[in-house]
Amino acid sequence: MFNFNNKSRVKIIVTAGPTREFVDPIRFLSNPSTGRMGYFIARACVNQGYKVTYIVGPVPVMFSKIKGAKNISIISTQDMLNSVLAELKSGSVLVMAAAPADYHPEKSYKHKIKKTETPYIHLVPNPDILKTVKKYIELKKLKDVILVGFAAETSNPEKNALKKLEEKKLDIIFLNDLSKAGSGFRVETNQLTVFRKDGSCQKWKKDTKERLGYRVLEEIEKWLES
Ligand code: CTP
Repeated sequence: MFNFNNKSRVKIIVTAGPTREFVDPIRFLSNPSTGRMGYFIARACVNQGYKVTYIVGPVPVMFSKIKGAKNISIISTQDMLNSVLAELKSGSVLVMAAAPADYHPEKSYKHKIKKTETPYIHLVPNPDILKTVKKYIELKKLKDVILVGFAAETSNPEKNALKKLEEKKLDIIFLNDLSKAGSGFRVETNQLTVFRKDGSCQKWKKDTKERLGYRVLEEIEKWLES
């Protein structure tokens, strides 16, 4: 199914950046992701000749679009999920480098909340995109879909990454240990450890996210060829 003689026929969907969940018209829940890692993965895929869909949350303008990719801007986790499902076809690779918000307020106020109001904000869970995608693949009987995730961890990193690989039924997961200097949000470098479904793993040296974009793609290509 994955024909490397014609890379433009292999579709790679890359998500990047945070999502926002609005509490009122001007305030939201989010996280400090800038989309840098996902941006450089998607750019490496375009540069290597793949057909790329880049689904991106609210990020700095330099990471918001990629020449040569189909660019889709989204705001909330539900928006991101809808776009991923709309793009997913048999023979695609989904790289979930985004940091989607896991909760949204049950009620979003229509007006700006005033200081005098002391609001009560009840949070309800967002769908897990990767888990929903897995069910969708089964429902629609899609074939040859590769799922790649990232694990952002501050404690028990290896254990948690492996748990996510298994629970989200991924092919590959890249661990991002947020407790390490030069790794994670708002920095130009990352130190990644790759865990594969076959039980193998490898710790990579710290490197720029730009170079790691190519390494992540090479890792996916190796997996597709194996
Ligand atoms: N992810 C997802 N849907 C969500 C949240 C995360 O598909 N609602 C994806 C991320 O893009 C990433 C992987 O799941 O590829 C792991 O994300 P992470 O934030 O590390 O973990 P969570 O699944 O959100 O779990 P926890 O917050 O409990 O660590």
